[in-house]
Amino acid sequence: MTRRTVVLLPGDGIGRVVLKEAIRVLDAAGFEADYIHGDIGWDFWCNEGNPLPTRTIDLIEKHKIALFGAITSKPEDEARAELRPGLQGKGFKYSSPIVGLRQHFNLDICVRPCKSYKGNPLNFVRRGKDNTIDEPVVDVVVFRQNTEGLYCGVEWTNPPEIVHQALMSHPKFRENYADVPVDELSVSTRIFTRKATIRILTAAFEYARRYNYKSVTLCEKPNVIRETSGLMWRLAKEIQKRSFPEIVLLNTNIDAQMMWLTKNPEDYGVIVAGNMFGDIVSDAFAGLIGGLGFACSAQFSSEGVAVFEPTHGSAPKYADYEVSIVNPIAMIESACMMLDYLGEEQISSKIRMSIARVIEEGKSRTYDMLKMAGKPDVIQNGAVSTSGMTDAIIAGLK
Ligand code: NAI
Ligand code: MG
Repeated sequence: MTRRTVVLLPGDGIGRVVLKEAIRVLDAAGFEADYIHGDIGWDFWCNEGNPLPTRTIDLIEKHKIALFGAITSKPEDEARAELRPGLQGKGFKYSSPIVGLRQHFNLDICVRPCKSYKGNPLNFVRRGKDNTIDEPVVDVVVFRQNTEGLYCGVEWTNPPEIVHQALMSHPKFRENYADVPVDELSVSTRIFTRKATIRILTAAFEYARRYNYKSVTLCEKPNVIRETSGLMWRLAKEIQKRSFPEIVLLNTNIDAQMMWLTKNPEDYGVIVAGNMFGDIVSDAFAGLIGGLGFACSAQFSSEGVAVFEPTHGSAPKYADYEVSIVNPIAMIESACMMLDYLGEEQISSKIRMSIARVIEEGKSRTYDMLKMAGKPDVIQNGAVSTSGMTDAIIAGLK
């Protein structure tokens, strides 16, 4: 086995806790790597005025692979107030280091698998015929365009004259907004480029082929958002026809998809969407398989940089518990995605099988799995701690 270097970005709060647990599992499962720590997060904002220091960017640039915990973000004014005194008033402006990472490395492909584990008490159930209870197996993998769309950041309140003029050149704008005073206008643009749209669609189809999913579903709104969603739908049809004829291409509207989410989640395989709808649909499906304690993700750039992270944040209220209670599975699953990417699928499947066994056995459950309020007494009341869950997963490795 070749030895690799992985940059560890623990970040803040429970990010630090769960990343450590994931490394314990990787070690126990026989994955060999050199780990290098990368500074990221709130402390670096407060002490250096930059939550994503250049030295961290350089490390990722060099080693290409990072495992990321979570960071704390705060609104602009709170962020400014927490800068150390020597940095106050020097023009430092807070911006999220995650968004910074995505932009710097153009991590445009985000993959969020949502697969239910048998026996997870948080699995979605629905009422079947004759009042039976059905527990559909959810096995959805969401491909979310991660850099463009509504999150591209091209937006204005009180847009400059030149922008206003450009808007006025559109008949719909003239018809509906010509009389609105400019300083009462807020505009967020939704930009899709052909190149990035082709990349996310192709990644979704390739994944479907590789892992034998029968369908790729585009989840957008092409009948209304004709230019951006429309572009995506047109390109999806072309790509499917040209290169992936064996895979069925489906089209659902984001609103209808949310409405039908709980009706037939087992009917979906790979789902692909732009940035915002991808964010929404992946959170929605994650809710069916156990929520934040189970939601993992990977982000890839075209230049070979890959960052693996749980979807959850730094959960500050749980960060300083003497015995941590949060669920490490989302982080461990994210590490498994890294193993898949590195071609270490034997190790990742060993870990996933152990997670599956632990969940099905039901002896070790974190507070979220027991539907408890997250309080320090959950351990006394039968929940396992974060490290207890990790220990159970390690014990089950075969
Ligand atoms: P959060 O994801 O940190 O926590 C929300 C709630 O979800 C927690 O209170 C907890 O009840 C539950 N939860 C989260 N992770 C869990 C786990 N592993 N096991 C069990 N329960 C878990 O989101 P919140 O509270 O909105 O944000 C807290 C901080 O995290 C903020 O500063 C926010 O900006 C940041 N954030 C960072 C993200 C990242 O680093 N990728 C993503 C989301 C939020
Ligand atoms: Mg989200």
